Amino acid sequence: MRALAFEIIGSILIIRDSANDKVLKEFAEDKMKKHPYIKTVMLQTTKIQGQERTRELKFLLGNKNFETIHREHGNQYILNPLDTFFSPRLSFERQRIANLVKKNEVILNFFAGVGPFSIAIVKKQKNCLIHSIEINEKSCNYMRKNIELNNCEGNIIVYCGDAFEIVPHKFLNSANRVLLPLPLESERSLPLAIECLDGGRGTIHWQITDNLSSKAVNLNAVKNSIEKIFAREKISTEYSISEHRIIRWIAPHIAHIAIDIELGY
Ligand SMILES: C[S@@+](CC[C@H](N)C(=O)[O-])C[C@H]1O[C@@H](n2cnc3c(N)ncnc32)[C@H](O)[C@@H]1O
Repeated sequence: MRALAFEIIGSILIIRDSANDKVLKEFAEDKMKKHPYIKTVMLQTTKIQGQERTRELKFLLGNKNFETIHREHGNQYILNPLDTFFSPRLSFERQRIANLVKKNEVILNFFAGVGPFSIAIVKKQKNCLIHSIEINEKSCNYMRKNIELNNCEGNIIVYCGDAFEIVPHKFLNSANRVLLPLPLESERSLPLAIECLDGGRGTIHWQITDNLSSKAVNLNAVKNSIEKIFAREKISTEYSISEHRIIRWIAPHIAHIAIDIELGY
């Protein structure tokens, strides 16, 4: 049988490679037999696209119920992949960041989606407050449900709207840590995130994409990008990179990368 790229979100199998109907059906039936919890099979027909980072999915097999609960590290996320962004491939990155958070931190999540980063953090560190901003109303609604589902009320506050409008009014000079999980806006969000750090001191989890010729992050290229942004925005603060890693490969040679930037230490 031909191997096809896929991901499983809750009870939904999403096939990411296209093929003829016979190959798709064989693949889907095999996966459903091996993993009886798969109830619905969809074919991804576009890339993840647009500001809301959604994709088009075509129904192939099973139940026509597109809302599902994805379980990860003991947390549960309810969502509909037709309307919202969610990637199981970010699971390790969520846990990595959650493990870094200390007691009493105030955290800003600019691009919170259905809430998985914010919830993963609170489940590890009950003494923190996370302001979670999201522009997609459907994702905001799922985020509210997920906060309840995971008993994170009181720790996560949802702001439904554009981070670039909300943040300058509400969050300057207020946070210990800022999450920027949207490579598409990496250039625009970094200077604003710096302005949000309390006393100019804290950590920014910057996500970018880069075209890599090897399997390693090109740290010099990353520093050049940061310094270019600093020069353009006339930012003169000292910074260091405490961690960098490839989160996943988006295409051959194109990596989704996590950069932890420490400022004011
Ligand atoms: C790549 S997704 C990441 C979502 C979430 N952090 C996760 O890991 O599942 C980026 C999210 O940012 C949202 N978004 C895009 N532009 C935004 C903006 N200007 N303000 C707030 N949210 C935005 C999208 O709707 C999407 O849900």
